[in-house]
Parts: sequence; structure tokens; C-alpha cells
Amino acid sequence: MRAGKLFLVGVVALGVFRGAWAQRFVPNYDESKVPPYTLPDPLRFADGTPVRSAQQWWDRRRGEILELFRTHVYGRSPEPVPIRFQVLEQSPQALGGTAVRKQVRVFFTKRSQPAMDLLIYAPQGKSPWPAFLALNFRGNHAICSDPAILLPRSWMRSGPGVKDHRVTPAGRGSASSRWPVRLILSRGYALVTIYYGDIDPDYDDGFRNGVHGAFDPPGKRPGDAWGAIAAWAWGLSRALDYLEQEPLVDARRVAVLGHSRLGKTALWAAAQDQRFAMAISNNSGCGGAALSRRRFGETLWRINTSFPHWFCENFKRFNNREDQLPVDQHMLLALIAPRPCYVASAQEDLWADPRGEFLAVKHAAPVYSLLLGRRVFAVEKQPPVNQPVMDVLGYHIRTGKHDLTLYDWQQYLRFADRYLKPKSTPAAQDR
Ligand code: GCU
Repeated sequence: MRAGKLFLVGVVALGVFRGAWAQRFVPNYDESKVPPYTLPDPLRFADGTPVRSAQQWWDRRRGEILELFRTHVYGRSPEPVPIRFQVLEQSPQALGGTAVRKQVRVFFTKRSQPAMDLLIYAPQGKSPWPAFLALNFRGNHAICSDPAILLPRSWMRSGPGVKDHRVTPAGRGSASSRWPVRLILSRGYALVTIYYGDIDPDYDDGFRNGVHGAFDPPGKRPGDAWGAIAAWAWGLSRALDYLEQEPLVDARRVAVLGHSRLGKTALWAAAQDQRFAMAISNNSGCGGAALSRRRFGETLWRINTSFPHWFCENFKRFNNREDQLPVDQHMLLALIAPRPCYVASAQEDLWADPRGEFLAVKHAAPVYSLLLGRRVFAVEKQPPVNQPVMDVLGYHIRTGKHDLTLYDWQQYLRFADRYLKPKSTPAAQDR
């Protein structure tokens, strides 16, 4: 008992110490203090020889880079599993008779937990629709005030309408500013969303709950075991497995989208799973679209200290040693090539390093150019605020804070109109 108590006190003290330590971190927001760095070249094999053709990219280089991210950054996810599902609820007359709604529970194993609830809104009329698939932070019920949305049953961190880490109806619609559902539907897209905590609760529990608990083999976790971001991304791929059998959605035209940590997740999901037709990263920052070597705003040390469960254990070796990383985040975007990919920053979101996000797009562009046989994203300088650039790689920096706003969605809808609507799927044609 005594030893147990002492241990507990130790663990708590360590947590407090770690928290205080992390708080003392002073981010660099001065461009002139960004250290000089050399990015690894996505178009050179590990042995230094150049990648000369699209064929060589597909045959060898892409696989090499994917392995590097699995080994050193996000960790290795389990193979896909056959999913089971249960339709919980559907209505052909949702949102005041303007939409179709469907809620489906997807199970990863033969057991009832863990399971994730998909909330699908689609326009009325002739399906299947191209769709945005996005994880959400605060529960499906928070995206819209529709009283028919089922409440999540999973653990949720404190916030509007959350009591003792359980969701109450008070949170309905509390995140609706981030989800312009009616606009999305009016433009001819379905929206599919899932509370990310259904896949893996976002706290450091030693990987016991969520899909980690269900799939991790017993014993010590290897350094490249999957972290939470990989788990959420894996869940997105299982959602796509389901959508392949969902008549409302055209699974070949799904854009995977995410904000912040869920933007990191969307990118890793699209990098690994080539069925995603498009990827959209909103303010994803460190470990997402931003170049790690710039150490501007959040750094690897900081992210691995504040969120020790997000990446694989091996990633921590690169804390304050960014130059030793065999990859940087432009190579994550390159893994999505030649599929359309859009990265968005916000002017006041310096923590996420807007310029580092832009530079990652720019340095991923040579891979797109090689695969598409034309110069892609011929943009030398970061565009001014509120002036999006849309090639098959897209980028904008808008005014304002770290958030997913109507302005962001308006650009994503324009981008999707170009690349996800019938007769205009250049990425598909180019392959
Ligand atoms: C923190 C974290 C970021 C992350 C963000 C979020 O700010 O440092 O890396 O993107 O949370 O997900 O909201």
C-alpha cells in the first residue's frame, strides 16, 4: 500500500513537473532566428541517387518515405480489419426537410467496444455524393443543433456540456461555427463526421483504451508502435471502408479534412490510404504540415512533452535534434501526390508556423510535378492573406486565429468543386 501510494505521488509530481517544464518553453516567433537547415530531398533515394521517373517514385521511393514516417514519426498501425456496422438511425427529411441524415455505428472487433459513430448528412436527391470526411473534437452532436444527433458515449475532455468527462445534451450545436452543414450540402457534398475520442480517447493512459487497447499485442510497446494520431488516422480508413458500402456517398470522391491535431491526422490518413481522393489540412502545424526543422512556434520537444501519446516513442529521439530526422513534413505532403491536397494557415496562428506550412507545400511540389508531368504550384513566395492559391496543391493564409472558419470552408468547397466533381478529376485521370 505504502509503496503504491509513494508511486502515485511520484507519478503525479512528475506530471506536474513535466507540465511546469513545458510551460516554461518560449517559442521562437522571430523569422531571423530560424536556424539554417537543409531539407531531405523527397526525390532522392535513401542511398542518395536521384528519383528520375514517376515509375521510380511508385516502385521504390514512396515506400521508403512511408516507412520512415512509420518508423520515426507516427508509428506503425495494424493491418486493416473487417468492420461490422449497425445503422442506428436515419431520416430522409432532416434539417427542416432539406437533407438526408444517417447515423451508423462501426465496430472494429467482435465486441461492442471500441466503436465509432458516423454522422452522415447528404443532400436530398440523386446519390452518391462526393463527401468531406472529418473527425470532430467535441462530439457529433456539437456540430449542429439537430436534436436527433445521438450523443457520444466515449470519454470527452472538459468543455461545453461535458460533465465528469461524459457528454450531456447541453453541448448540442456548441461547435456549429466550424461546420457550415447547410452550405456544404447546398454545394452538392455529403458531410461525414466522427467524434475522434470514439476511436481513441485523447489522453495519455499508456495506450490501454480505444483501438490501442483492442489491437496492441501484450508486452512492451516497440519504439515504432502507433501513437494516437496514427490511431485516429486508422479509424478514418475504417470509416472509408464503411463508406465503400454506403449508397449516400461516393467513396472514390472523399476528401479527408481535419483541423489542428486532426489536420495532422487527416494528412497521415491520406498519406497511408490512397483511396482518399483529397486531403485538407486546416492549421495542422507541428507534426502536420509545418516543417519541423524551422523550430518556429511549437517544436518537436514541446509537442512530444505536452502530448506524449500522439506520436511513436521513436519520435522523441528527435527532440531538439530536428536535423537528424530522415524526413520532414513536406515529404508527408509528397506521399499524398498526385492527389489534390490543400493546406491552410491562419495569420495569428504562429504556434502552427504558417510560413513553415507554406514551405512544406512548396517543397512537396516537385513530387507532384514529376508525377503529373507539369510544373505544379509555381509559387515562389508565401501568398498574402486571404489570397488562396489553387493548383492541385492549394494553400491559403487567412486573417484571424487558430480555428476552422466559414472562410476556410468556402475555399475547400471551391477546391473540391475543381477536383472532386465529375468530369474534373485530374488526379484520377493522371494516374
Ligand atoms: C495544441 C498543440 C497543437 C495542436 C493543437 C490542437 O495547441 O500544441 O500541436 O495542433 O493543440 O489540436 O488543437
